[in-house]
Order: sequence, then structure tokens, then C-alpha cells
Amino acid sequence: MKETIYDYDDLLEMLDSLLREPTEFWDNFYSDRNKGIPFFTDVPDENLVSYFKNNILKPGNVLELGCGPGRNAIYFAQRGCTVDAVDLSRESIKWAEERANEKNVSINFMNENIFDLDIEEGKYDIVYDAGCFHHIAPHRRMSYIDLVNRALKPNGYFAITCFVEGGQFGGAEISDWEVYRSRSLMGGLGYTEEKLRLIFRDFKEVEIRKMKVIEQPNDTFGVPDFLTALFLKN
Ligand SMILES: C[S@@+](CC[C@H](N)C(=O)[O-])C[C@H]1O[C@@H](n2cnc3c(N)ncnc32)[C@H](O)[C@@H]1O
Repeated sequence: MKETIYDYDDLLEMLDSLLREPTEFWDNFYSDRNKGIPFFTDVPDENLVSYFKNNILKPGNVLELGCGPGRNAIYFAQRGCTVDAVDLSRESIKWAEERANEKNVSINFMNENIFDLDIEEGKYDIVYDAGCFHHIAPHRRMSYIDLVNRALKPNGYFAITCFVEGGQFGGAEISDWEVYRSRSLMGGLGYTEEKLRLIFRDFKEVEIRKMKVIEQPNDTFGVPDFLTALFLKN
């Protein structure tokens, strides 16, 4: 029966319903491509470029979560990776496909919610997330970790960039419980190094640091008040 909780998925859905419906929000967000949002730039994250430059990451199978208009997915493809990139916003995927076509790179873009993905277990060498995780509600965090774990091969890498607490672009300093009391993620949750370490404690930490600030225009992207983290699947 509707609104009866029989299993864990019903519980997650009920908690989802307390918060903003994300697809409409993100489609609206991308409807004006000229509104000066920093990550609307078309260059990859500085941390991602550094992992390749330092020979930590090598070409392989990549899954990007919340790829938006595709700037990091394109970089992975240009480095010789085979890329599956997913985002729930149809508008962002359209934009990403246009960019990839202009640059003549082939990427498998998927317009889906990451929690509805039917992934091939152990397919990926790298899972990448730039700014999606901080928009994931706390009750979905366990599913998120499970997804990353299922997606990765043993010794695969998981990398993330996310808001620090109280940052200038976002990063709500609220407890997880407060999300449900206020029925809002307040534009994205803020994290600390310690919180990331605890949340991703099943993975081995390779590096956690502040994102470097890169004055634009440039060939890499970096903004203040973001954390970048790289983990290895045990
Ligand atoms: C801040 S944007 C970052 C976009 C891109 N990664 C970048 O850095 O250019 C966050 C993205 O995550 C996507 N997103 C949020 N929740 C998602 C979910 N549950 N499944 C798939 N995509 C999601 C949004 O549609 C949005 O494009």
C-alpha cells in the first residue's frame, strides 16, 4: 500500500520525499548556460589533473557520478579512459554531449539518478565525483558508498571534491538530523577532512586536501573552500 514502509527502499523513498525533488531543480539550474557559475567552465579539476600528472591514475574504466556538463568526463576520455558518466539532469547531459562532440571524444553519458544505476560490478578502475556527493542526503550515504564499492575493481580509486563547512559557494554547517528537521540540504552539505575520513573509512586514504585556487581562465579548475580526496578500495 502507498505510504506503508515494508522495506529499506520504502524508508529511503519516504525520507527523499521530505526533501526537494532534485531533477527539476537541476534542469532549471542548467537552463541558462551563461549565468557565471564557476563550474560551468569547460576545464577539468586541478586535483584530477594532478593525479594523472603524478602517475597515480592511469587510463582505465571510469564512472563519473553527477557529471554535469561533462568537463571532467571529457578530460578522462582525452587521457585515454573509457568513460561512463551519469547525471539526473537531462539539460546537463545534453550540454555534456554537445561539448564531447565538439571535442571529438566518445563518452557514454547516462541520464539517470545514480541510485537507479544498473552497474556492472567491479567494472571500474576509477569512480569520480565533483560536487555531487554534497548534494546527497545523509540517508542515501550508505547506498552511495555501496555503489562506489560495487562499481570499483579491487585497488580501484575513488576521488571526490566537495564543499568544506561554511564555504563561500555553499557547505551547510548543520548536523545530519537537522537536514530532516529543516527538510533541506541548505544548498549542499559542508564536510571536513575528518568527516570524509569517517564516512569513507572502508577505503584507504591516499590524499585529502583543500582544492587549490586556480585563477580563471586557465586549463584547470580550482575554487576556494572545496576539499579534494582520493581513496583506494581495499
Ligand atoms: C554541483 S553540480 C557538479 C557538476 C559537475 N560534476 C561539475 O563539477 O562540473 C552537481 C551535479 O550532480 C548532479 N546530481 C545530484 N544528485 C544526483 C543524483 N542523485 N544522481 C545523479 N546526478 C545527481 C546534478 O544534476 C548536478 O549536475
